[in-house]
Amino acid sequence: MILNLQNISKSFSISHDAPARIVLNDMNFKMEEGDSVAILGPSGSGKTTMLNLIGTLDRPDSGKIFFRDKNIVDFKPRELDAFRNQEIGFVFQFHHLLPQCSVLENVLIPTLVLDDRDEKKQKYALAEKLLKRVGIWDHKDKLPGKLSGGECQRAAVVRAMINNPSILLADEPTGALDKENVGIIADLLMDLNKNEGLSLLVVTHSQELASRMNKTYELVQGKPVLK
Ligand SMILES: Nc1ncnc2c1ncn2[C@@H]1O[C@H](COP(=O)(O)OP(=O)(O)OP(=O)(O)O)[C@@H](O)[C@H]1O
Ligand SMILES: [Mg+2]
Repeated sequence: MILNLQNISKSFSISHDAPARIVLNDMNFKMEEGDSVAILGPSGSGKTTMLNLIGTLDRPDSGKIFFRDKNIVDFKPRELDAFRNQEIGFVFQFHHLLPQCSVLENVLIPTLVLDDRDEKKQKYALAEKLLKRVGIWDHKDKLPGKLSGGECQRAAVVRAMINNPSILLADEPTGALDKENVGIIADLLMDLNKNEGLSLLVVTHSQELASRMNKTYELVQGKPVLK
C-alpha cells in the first residue's frame, strides 16, 4: 500500500463568522504501489484539496494519511522536506513554472539542493531524456512565456519527475489541452507507470486520460466513489 487515507475531513470558511463548508467529509481512500488512479468530480468537489493534503501542502482537520507505513500528517519539518523532495512529484493545476527561468532551469529546480557533481550530471541527463521524450528539448533555453500551454504542462510533468518520485500527484495535467497534447502527456504517464513503477494519482476532467488509468473515482459529497 502506498497511500491510505483514513477518516480525512477538511472544511474551509471564507470568513470567521461564515459557516465552514465541508469539502472532504470523513473520507477513506487507498492506493496500491504501482496503481494508476483518476479522480473526477465537478468544480469545487475537493479534488485539489485532496491532492494538497496528500502532497502536504495543506493539513486535514482530522484523520490520518499513511504513505507506506508512516502518517505524513505527523511529519516534522525535516521529514516533510524529504518527503516532498524525494517521494512525491507534483504537477499543479496551473503549471507554476517560474517565468524568469528557462524550461531547463525550471525542470532542474528540484535538484538545486544537490551538491555532488556526478549527481548533477545524472539529473541533467535525465532532464534531457525526459524533455526529448515529450518533444520539447528544442525549447529548453526558452522562457515559459514563449511556450504554448501544452508545452508548459509537459515541462511541468518533467520537473515533477526529475527526482524519481514514488508517486506522481497531477492536478489537471491536461487541462485546456487539445487531443494531441492530452495523448502526449497520457503516453508519458503510462510509460512511467508501466516501466518504472511510478504510482499515479491524477485529477482530470479528461475522459481520455481517465480511461487510461486502472481505477477511476468520483468525489461525491466529500467522498471518493469508485466508478
Ligand atoms: N484555501 C481555501 N480557502 C477557502 N476555501 C477554499 C480553499 N481551498 C479550497 N476552498 C474551497 O473548497 C472547495 C473545494 O475546492 P477545490 O479546489 O478542492 O475544488 P476542485 O474539485 O479542485 O475544483 P476545480 O475542478 O474547479 O479545480 C471549493 O468550494 C473552494 O472554494
Ligand atoms: Mg482543482
